[in-house]
Amino acid sequence: MSNQDALFNTALACYNHAYAPYSNFAVGAAVLGSNGKIYGGCNVENVSYPCGTCAEAGAIAAMNADGERLIKEIVVVASGTDLITPCGACLQRIFEFSDSSTLVHLATTDGIKKSYKIAELLPVSFAEESLRK
Ligand code: THU
Repeated sequence: MSNQDALFNTALACYNHAYAPYSNFAVGAAVLGSNGKIYGGCNVENVSYPCGTCAEAGAIAAMNADGERLIKEIVVVASGTDLITPCGACLQRIFEFSDSSTLVHLATTDGIKKSYKIAELLPVSFAEESLRK
């Protein structure tokens, strides 16, 4: 199985575990770290809506908890036939742990449909250097 197939399968498994009773919009994500390991996450909503967390946030937290800091690739899979891009906050979360070759794959439950470099999705970013200016 290719890395990308394994990444998609993890994202899909997480999608199936999404807790989204308020939006009914399930999202799964999986990141491939530079260590070759895959970490998954799903959206977890809350009756107090702002407490809910995105799928990407869960996957990135799991990666960090394992001591890995660099995302090589990330897959996001969501409900419906239309592809979704990560929300603005999640683009910033991904960017924090990316390099110039980090890929963001957008998927439906059928598979990966489009791939972008993070800089294509967040071309003008708030970065660590911004703090020093
Ligand atoms: N959601 C994600 O998990 N990731 C995104 O990038 C976009 C939105 C979730 C949050 C919420 O639980 C549901 O999708 C509807 O916004």
